[in-house]
Amino acid sequence: TSNQMWGGRFAAGPDAIMEAINASIDFDKRLARQDIDGSRAHAAMLAACGIISDSDADAIRKGLLTVLSEIETGKFEFSKALEDIHMNVEARLKEIIGEPAGRLHTGRSRNDQVAADFRLWVRDQIDAVDAALVALCRALLAQAESGADWVMPGFTHLQTAQPVTWGHHMLAYVEMFGRDLSRFRDARERMNESPLGAAALAGTSFPIDRNMTADALGFDRPAANSLDAVSDRDFALEFLSCASICAMHLSRMAEELVIWSSAQFRFVTLSDRFSTGSSIMPQKKNPDAAELIRAKIGRIFGANVALMMVMKGLPLTYSKDMQEDKEQTFDAADNLMLALAAMEGMVKDMQANRESLEAAASSGFSTATDLADWLVRELGLPFRDAHHITGSLVALAEEKNCDLPDLTLEDMQSVHDGIRQDVFDVLGVHNSVASRTSYGGTAPAQVREQIVRWKGILA
Ligand code: ARG
Repeated sequence: TSNQMWGGRFAAGPDAIMEAINASIDFDKRLARQDIDGSRAHAAMLAACGIISDSDADAIRKGLLTVLSEIETGKFEFSKALEDIHMNVEARLKEIIGEPAGRLHTGRSRNDQVAADFRLWVRDQIDAVDAALVALCRALLAQAESGADWVMPGFTHLQTAQPVTWGHHMLAYVEMFGRDLSRFRDARERMNESPLGAAALAGTSFPIDRNMTADALGFDRPAANSLDAVSDRDFALEFLSCASICAMHLSRMAEELVIWSSAQFRFVTLSDRFSTGSSIMPQKKNPDAAELIRAKIGRIFGANVALMMVMKGLPLTYSKDMQEDKEQTFDAADNLMLALAAMEGMVKDMQANRESLEAAASSGFSTATDLADWLVRELGLPFRDAHHITGSLVALAEEKNCDLPDLTLEDMQSVHDGIRQDVFDVLGVHNSVASRTSYGGTAPAQVREQIVRWKGILA
């Protein structure tokens, strides 16, 4: 038998394979609430504009609420023959309220319907991601606060570079996740236009009120071009690209946690709650959550690329290719939320090991730049000469198998006779970080100012 929604011109029903490739209900059932919200707004508008009667609108509204509660309580029977969430809901509405159900689709198409549903869904996800990012930034701020003046090595090329503070390192991630937050908020603002009323592609001859449905659904305004409204998915792509950048940040941080929690580094101890053991090696405590965050990020990048590929060759307006926008986006959103929650949990629980951090900061000639700066400041040497002299001192320390502060004054003077005892003041890691007072620098005083600033932003 042919389809009850569009089967008028069909004598036969679809092949089983046709149904399998065409049906989206297995995944787009996740749009049920948005679909019903959209239909309620549309029906109320149709009645307000005199296009359907108030009693029909009332029957539709009540029927849709029944359908929603059936779906939410797991009583709803989804049908593949009805293809997607839109036709599943409408068919059930017809069973419940009868004839008025057939009036709901007046002045509407599944094309503007799905564009509206999916926009609402992505918008809801952005709000959830927003809250998760704020929570993560708060956890990072708490870490920054408790170790604002703890010293650790700062790295370039993963080689010891200069001492920095733990607070400063934590705040670097707050900056990154803070920009992610603003990217998502920015994308939300741009996508918040209502496609409803664009109908199939050209608009409708019914005297609808697009502002009314836009308002009811929390959109800022109706989309201004009906062809564009039904045929672009850039709002989902923007969500996925914001998600990709955020995921990249999560992955870098996860990688640091993997390195830092190793026995060789011992910078942090992860909690038992966010670690796992080995079935053979009794001593093991593995940073699996961090590793899985690092790995899951690939799916999010993949979703972004996949949807780009789906969209890039499509002529205006709607093509069924666009049904493939949802699964990828759902998967990326789910995994981003999971990764954010796992990262927040790890950061909240983790213990930074102050002694290991400081010991690591003090090794590897981390204050060589401070020594070179001292030669410039105190002896008036050109920086290039100071750099060369310091290099010789590092070589000397290496030869003696010690660190820079362990050299004697005589050792120092054998390389440059102007060096004085007070040079040792700048070789200590605490003095080193305390001296980096330039705006945005690692000095604890700067870190504390940035913590206050971020608390204000996130409040
Ligand atoms: N399930 C479809 C989708 O997700 C809904 C829109 C169908 N429109 C159409 N003209 N067949 O894209």
